[in-house]
Amino acid sequence: MAFPAEPFRIKVVEMLRRVTPAERIELLEKAGYNVFKLPSDSIYIDLLTDSGTSAMSDRQWAALMVGDEAYAGSRNFFRFQETVRRIFGFEHVIPTHQGRMAENLLFTAVVKEGDVVPNNIHFDTTRANVEHQKAEALDLVVREGLEPSHPGPFKGNMDVERLDQALTSHRGRVPLVLLTITNNSGGGQPVSMANVRATAEVCRRHGVPLIFDACRFAENAYFIQQREAGYAERPVREIARELFSHGQGCTMSAKKDGLVNIGGFLALEDASWAEKVTHMLILVEGFPTYGGLASRDLEAMAQGLEEVLDEDYLSFRVGQVHDLAETLHAAGVPTVRPPGGHAVYLDARSFAPHIPPAEFPGQAIVVALYRDYGIRAVEIGSLMFGHADPATGVETAPALELVRLAVPRRVYTSAHLRYVAESVIRTFRERDALRGLRIRHAAPYLRHFTADLEEVPPRPVHAG
Ligand code: F0G
Repeated sequence: MAFPAEPFRIKVVEMLRRVTPAERIELLEKAGYNVFKLPSDSIYIDLLTDSGTSAMSDRQWAALMVGDEAYAGSRNFFRFQETVRRIFGFEHVIPTHQGRMAENLLFTAVVKEGDVVPNNIHFDTTRANVEHQKAEALDLVVREGLEPSHPGPFKGNMDVERLDQALTSHRGRVPLVLLTITNNSGGGQPVSMANVRATAEVCRRHGVPLIFDACRFAENAYFIQQREAGYAERPVREIARELFSHGQGCTMSAKKDGLVNIGGFLALEDASWAEKVTHMLILVEGFPTYGGLASRDLEAMAQGLEEVLDEDYLSFRVGQVHDLAETLHAAGVPTVRPPGGHAVYLDARSFAPHIPPAEFPGQAIVVALYRDYGIRAVEIGSLMFGHADPATGVETAPALELVRLAVPRRVYTSAHLRYVAESVIRTFRERDALRGLRIRHAAPYLRHFTADLEEVPPRPVHAG
């Protein structure tokens, strides 16, 4: 076997509805070829995101039953606080309903107009929350992080030299540096401990705090154990603790490596930052001992944070994603190499070179995977990040055209993922049949969520 079998057995099942191909064609047309608008019970395998889609364990479900729903001082908060302090090492623990609220609260407290916030690559909500403060979000990932076929083991690393330059040229205007582990927008690629150390050293020299975007911290720590010299014998839990010891806080969406369906937090070293954030928390989220959640959610989150560090779980989890990626790669399907921790990314430009970026090659693959196989993936390319010139209507495309197959945690079996692999391989073999799309209607911002599209008629084939 290429990777360990499921380190769990199944106690509760959720039946999947069979949808006929004819029904899927009709649903796609109704959804304007936009898979965000499909009813999810018409999907066989849903790889739209790994966020909030985890299967909770029996212990997490049991945790919900010991919720103490007191408005203030709930016992679940104290367990949650103790767990976060122990794993992450930061003193002040501020629960939020999900990651972007942690970002919003932190940036509202410390980022002001005209500031600059560096990151390896900002996730889109992080960027939006920086820009909401009228500050600039700067992406400084190492150059190989933008090359889909570069084989580097830590393509999420910060370009420390460019960070140093940015901190010099924007002196006094950088309230914090972010480091996203793993780097979602760059393909789920990890950051090495050496790079964390080097980034922290630059930040320290410039007197700027380093804050982690820690959504997938356990996967990142596992990659360090597997790939970085000197860490093979160290427990993942210790690696995580060492990693966080180099920073002054983190934002966290527990919908990823917290193994819960909702939840997040902000953890900070600095008491004055924590105080500012807490004032705002009470205004927009809730009292500091529940922060926009039910107390039972805090208990489930505390339990999830322990379980995600289980190394049998992590080797299965990362192995499952890796195996999917290697099966596709062996069949010649172009993917971002090496595979990241939570998803496999198809390189749509090489997959469907006959479709120009202005006709959304990634979306064409997404449409075919749903129509022919009932699989939902997500386009991360021209539809998500491109835009039409307001004067000419001409589309500009981003550097990469990707399709993300995000794997929910503990949800799909190896047989499910074999089905996914076979479906993607078949789509690749029949790629000449993929059709481009054009926009019928789109919102001015974040258009990929709501746009209506239609298929472009096939081009006439000219002989000779
Ligand atoms: N940071 C990163 C790196 C993320 O991947 C996400 C969410 C967030 C912050 C925001 O967290 O959703 O709890 O508010 N990523 C999801 C995804 C949505 O599909 O990759 P949130």
